[in-house]
Amino acid sequence: MGVWARQTRACSKRRPGLSKCDGYFFTAGLVAATFLVLLGFSLLHLPEPLALKPATTAPEVTLLIWTHPFGRKRPLPDCLARYGVDGCVLTDDARAYPHADGVLVHHRDVASGSAELPPEVGRPPWQKWIWLNYESPSHTPALWRLEGRFNLTMSYRADSDIFLPYGYLVQKHGNGQPLSEPSRTSRPGLVAWVVSNWVDSQARVAFYFQLSQYIQVDVFGRAGRSIPEGLGSVVRLVKHYNFYLALENSQHTDYITEKLWNAVLAGAVPVVLGPARKNYERFLPPEAFIHVDDFSSVEALARYLLLLRQDPARLMGHLRWRTGFGLRQPAFWEEHYCTACRALRKTIGRTHVVHDLTGWFES
Ligand SMILES: *[C@@H]1O[C@H](CO)[C@@H](O)[C@H](O)[C@H]1NC(C)=O
Repeated sequence: MGVWARQTRACSKRRPGLSKCDGYFFTAGLVAATFLVLLGFSLLHLPEPLALKPATTAPEVTLLIWTHPFGRKRPLPDCLARYGVDGCVLTDDARAYPHADGVLVHHRDVASGSAELPPEVGRPPWQKWIWLNYESPSHTPALWRLEGRFNLTMSYRADSDIFLPYGYLVQKHGNGQPLSEPSRTSRPGLVAWVVSNWVDSQARVAFYFQLSQYIQVDVFGRAGRSIPEGLGSVVRLVKHYNFYLALENSQHTDYITEKLWNAVLAGAVPVVLGPARKNYERFLPPEAFIHVDDFSSVEALARYLLLLRQDPARLMGHLRWRTGFGLRQPAFWEEHYCTACRALRKTIGRTHVVHDLTGWFES
């Protein structure tokens, strides 16, 4: 499977008109189709976020939600009704601490001092502490304070003990939102960017200033024109554009957020600034995005975007992959709680220790 994926990638980079790979493609296509059917292929090169399916005989577990992330209290979900996750009792009542099988601790709340870590005194020997964090290392302070305390990690990183990304592709008829078919209907806007947290020192701001010297970039959000609040409206807005700037606030392994997936959902081609191209290729096909590193200069990137707008067939080369895919965007934080609980149930009876949280997360 891995070899097949790599070879396909090498060939798919061929320029239109070159047919070196066509014969190979036909055979590879047949083989691949068989694989996809057999394996129920959902992600490109990622661990399956839902892989930790417990044996149905595992005992029920109790997961204590130690803090509501960012101090915002919300009702806890019914994991069975919403996600088909059974055997899980969620509670946010700290009195459950002495008998809870797991304690889910959101990093920011304990790092900022707005909450204390659970007490070591009276910590049951079977209990697992789960470190929960969806910020990038640049926005994850005081990690050193949490060394040697946790049993499992949960984050957007694919190598977390409990992996749940901001978004991931699934088969179209899976449980995701089906992606719209690529359409040749032209979109009025060229490039959009929605930015709420404008910080001059960020790489994305420098990139925007450079890009806007060459082409029109429509800026929305707190730093630009206003758009109605809410995720749906960002997607609706971006549907009027050919390209969307999916620029992460900082560049780190696997740190690929809803900015990318909003563009994908809206059917715009994302222009990405984040981890390296290879890292993005674990999450979506190589032609599905334009990476700022693909070009020797921002001017060359701008020229390419203009070229694509004038050449719908070539633009289609960045959109055709959508057919057959759906998108899952896990709901913060309900799905995270239920996923954590399922993983906890799977690991019951085993010992886990998180070694070098800082070294790992910052790598
Ligand atoms: C959980 O982690 C702590 C601290 O590293 C360790 O002492 C304990 O044995 C671990 N417990 C389990 C059940 O894995």
